[in-house]
Amino acid sequence: MSQIVILTGAGVSAESGIRTFRDAGGLWEGHRIEDVATPEAFQAHPSLVHQFYNLRRAALKQCEPNAAHVALADLQRRLPGQVTLITQNVDDLHERAGAVNVLHMHGELLKIRCCHCSHRCRWSDDLTTTTECPECGRLGGLRPDIVWFGEIPFFLDQIEEALQLADMFVAIGTSGLVYPAAGMVHVARSRGIRTIEFNLRRTEASALFSETHQGPATETVSKWVTEF
Ligand code: OAD
Repeated sequence: MSQIVILTGAGVSAESGIRTFRDAGGLWEGHRIEDVATPEAFQAHPSLVHQFYNLRRAALKQCEPNAAHVALADLQRRLPGQVTLITQNVDDLHERAGAVNVLHMHGELLKIRCCHCSHRCRWSDDLTTTTECPECGRLGGLRPDIVWFGEIPFFLDQIEEALQLADMFVAIGTSGLVYPAAGMVHVARSRGIRTIEFNLRRTEASALFSETHQGPATETVSKWVTEF
């Protein structure tokens, strides 16, 4: 039974209206990433960071999964137990399209955790510096359950294990610049398995893949899944 590991990035959600990181002129919704997506920024300006993620959470509610999310969920259904879906995205569009067991290696916008008691839970409302932890009741310790720069991504052991068992590695809509996600194609190549990249355009990583498909993910990924 062949195993497929699929890594998605911001490009898979671009056509749902969520802006990618590196196409935005170095700014993320008008902010420098280091001002909103680092533990240091949260320490120095918690209200600004909360406000930034409150806006992202509210905006996500207005977005819908697109044909690429739907195609990947369909592939997972057709090949039960054979498709490991890993995403760098913090949105929930894969799940809303029907995908299961998605490994959100950079965390999730709709989850929070408490810095005091480590409690994690789903959260779709605004957070402030005085929101009470639903578990320990303390104030001010809640943060988005998102991997900020300088923090260690989630699920690294599971990802490594999946890559070691994979017969095919597919990267969709990612610039391949942020490690450790960017290192996955190197592991796949070292194992000699088929590697496929889907992107709007050639990337700095394209030369590392045995196959590349250029164009919008809604078209290229849907076609690939239909013909699979
Ligand atoms: P990037 O913004 O770096 O790259 C998005 C990629 O998607 C680019 O290569 C685009 O060419 C491609 N793209 C855009 N629209 C597309 C479409 N419609 N169809 C196919 N491809 C398209 O985003 P990521 O690679 O996901 O990390 O960025 C990786 C990480 O860097 C993010 O998870 C985030 C960021 O800083 C953290 O927040 C920790």
